[in-house]
Amino acid sequence: MLIQLIINQINYKVDVEPNMRLLDLLRDKLGLIGTKEGCGEGECGACTVIMDGESINSCMVMAFQANGSNITTIEGLEENGELHPIQKAYMEEGSVQCGFCIPGMIMSTKALLDKHPNPTREEIREGVSGNLCRCTGYNKAINAAQKAIEILKEGGK
Ligand code: FES
Ligand code: FES
Repeated sequence: MLIQLIINQINYKVDVEPNMRLLDLLRDKLGLIGTKEGCGEGECGACTVIMDGESINSCMVMAFQANGSNITTIEGLEENGELHPIQKAYMEEGSVQCGFCIPGMIMSTKALLDKHPNPTREEIREGVSGNLCRCTGYNKAINAAQKAIEILKEGGK
């Protein structure tokens, strides 16, 4: 079936199979491979993208269900060749180890900060609780989110 959607501010009209997941559409059909597949069962958060303002597991949404939606993936965060403040904060805080979980972590963080620009450390922890990381122990991801809040308050540079 033909669906229409916006991904990273670009309009797409794509033919999708009824059993195609949004994750497959992004990665296999559109080449947006920053979104990762970990468990494929809604447990790890590696496939997190923002759909109509909410962070979702793209392995748990069928492509046809995304018809008419507005989606942001990790590739959509940079602006004019500049990384998003959350991405910068992850680099500055040394919050990336193997990196596999990081796009999902960052998208969950973005969804949280879009709604709550000044969350507590506990609220940040809750906001990324659906994102599993086997490397970092989470504290550095929380530190990065707090750093991103500072950068955003200073005007996002
Ligand atoms: S790959 Fe989607 S939640 Fe793990
Ligand atoms: S940095 Fe390796 S899984 Fe999170």
